[in-house]
Amino acid sequence: MADIALITGGGNGIGRAVALKFATEGIAVVVADWEADAAEKTCAEIRINGADAEAVRVDVRRAGEVKDAVARVLDRRGTIDILANIAGGSFYRKRLEELSWAEWKEVLDINLKGTFLFCRETAPAMIRQKRGRIINTASNYGVTGSALRTPYSAAKAGVIGFSKSLALELASDGVLVNVVAPGPTDTPRVMEGWDPEARQKRAAEIPLGRNGTPEDIAEAFYFLSSPASAQITGQTLHVNGGWVMP
Ligand SMILES: NC(=O)c1ccc[n+]([C@@H]2O[C@H](COP(=O)([O-])OP(=O)(O)OC[C@H]3O[C@@H](n4cnc5c(N)ncnc54)[C@H](O)[C@@H]3O)[C@@H](O)[C@H]2O)c1
Repeated sequence: MADIALITGGGNGIGRAVALKFATEGIAVVVADWEADAAEKTCAEIRINGADAEAVRVDVRRAGEVKDAVARVLDRRGTIDILANIAGGSFYRKRLEELSWAEWKEVLDINLKGTFLFCRETAPAMIRQKRGRIINTASNYGVTGSALRTPYSAAKAGVIGFSKSLALELASDGVLVNVVAPGPTDTPRVMEGWDPEARQKRAAEIPLGRNGTPEDIAEAFYFLSSPASAQITGQTLHVNGGWVMP
């Protein structure tokens, strides 16, 4: 039977590319996103090729919604073999003095609390079957820091620390926990928000000479979900064209 993957943030950008890659590799995907139309669109693209995909609307910050979403998937599918927590973003570029508590909390909640909630609800099914892969999403800014992105850097550093601890907790249960840390990646939303000249300048700073694509990042997610990474847990895989070498 095909593995079942639950992918948060699968409606757009990197999450969408991961959903398409997994489906191509014969994995059945559940696309969880608070943008229901976007999640449905990703699934429709996957189904055109005859693969198995279903959309679930969920706000990753809300414990009740996450619990219900995971319970529904387990009810219908029997298990979740792969969890990819990808929903996230930096949302604000502001100096600390200008940041409100609500803005700080929003960034921490989407990136870190959402990851915690989905891991907490999904881990028991993986522990029961003594097999599972959890892949969380950080950013190079979680390691290097970034001026004007204090909550985002804190959240992504938190994702890395959380994932290492969870890897230790779940290792004896056969559940592997790793992190993908994308560098600058040309997702449609990033491309809308940046003026093309600034993007070109950034790309020129990257040793491999270009920004990443969502498909580059999806390859790292697939690797960490596959038998090829069976001896890897608690690690952060940086995919950034050599921009940062932590
Ligand atoms: N694009 C980059 O350059 C880059 C770099 C480093 C890290 N990342 C990380 O990669 C991940 C994906 O980024 P992206 O660029 O593809 O972003 P994106 O905005 O294109 O996609 C993010 C997806 O997450 C969903 N989402 C956001 N908040 C949600 C919530 N509360 N509940 C449910 N779904 C929610 C959105 O609807 C969207 O579909 C994020 O964690 C981001 O921090 C991106």
